[in-house]
Amino acid sequence: MYGGRILVAIGAFLAVALAHNVSIVTDAPLNREVLNLLVWVLVFSVIIFAGVTGALLYTIVRFRRRPGDDALPPQFRENARVEFSLTLIPLIIVLVLFVLTAQALVKINRPIAGALGVEVTARQFWWDFVLTEEGLRLSNELVIPVGRPVEVKLTSADVIHSFWIPSLAGKTDAIPGQTTYNRFMATKPGNYYGYCAELCGASHANMRFRVIALEPTEYQRFVDAYRAYQAPEPKTERARRGQEVFQARCAACHAVKGTAATGVLGPDLSIFGNRLTLASGVVENTRENLIRWIKDPTSMKPAAQMPAFPDLSDADLEALADYLESLKLEGFDFRTLPRF
Ligand code: CUA
Repeated sequence: MYGGRILVAIGAFLAVALAHNVSIVTDAPLNREVLNLLVWVLVFSVIIFAGVTGALLYTIVRFRRRPGDDALPPQFRENARVEFSLTLIPLIIVLVLFVLTAQALVKINRPIAGALGVEVTARQFWWDFVLTEEGLRLSNELVIPVGRPVEVKLTSADVIHSFWIPSLAGKTDAIPGQTTYNRFMATKPGNYYGYCAELCGASHANMRFRVIALEPTEYQRFVDAYRAYQAPEPKTERARRGQEVFQARCAACHAVKGTAATGVLGPDLSIFGNRLTLASGVVENTRENLIRWIKDPTSMKPAAQMPAFPDLSDADLEALADYLESLKLEGFDFRTLPRF
């Protein structure tokens, strides 16, 4: 009885997992190559499973011991035909998979002419993105156009990480001192989840990012606006106080375009007000989360390298939040994008 339930549970899990995966990867051209490989492997696995189980069941039923049948069954060693086929069939399967894999790898790893260049630096525990041509820095939330291939040039500033956007691209390791490449293309606008896929420390699981894919015209509008962007002057007294606090306490590590803050040790905060998440994709960008984060980052993200600021008064924290939320490209709201 329990066996049946366990089988049903496993079946349901596989069905959900498969449906989910298939629905999220089929739109991304380079990911489709990998999906095709998965289908081939599954087909062969099913054939092998059916063959082995069928042969086993047949043998058990056909050659079972019957009442009164006490004779010794035929005894023999070696069967050249069986041994030959048991060697040949797996060899053929492996060769077919090898050729298919090699073809897929060639397609996936081929440089793409006209691709959008993005430099990615992985760090404990966040991601720095630079749109190479445009010279724009977008930490933790990468904005790309739909329908144009993206070529990611990847490296790490500390330990080995791995860049992974399940709905768009396979994993690629980010290795200190080396450059690796990952290519992908989004076919529909959306907010795509990205992850670090290599154990890199206490907050490996909290090292996430987003890819915001926009229609090409909307992307161009974003790039033009961000290029021309200079952080707006604080409009309220409290935001002005927030800017002072920021310059005194945050600017050594964080940059804000058009101000004296040019730090590069931490994420770029130029358009913090447009960000969907905080702490590299870990929580929604809300005031409550922001204040909690500034007060004590490691309470939300173990081993986060940003220092805690327990000495900031509540008034200063609110002022800082006002200032950060005012850093915004007007006319862009990524919150309504579908999530993948
Ligand atoms: Cu970075 Cu795991």
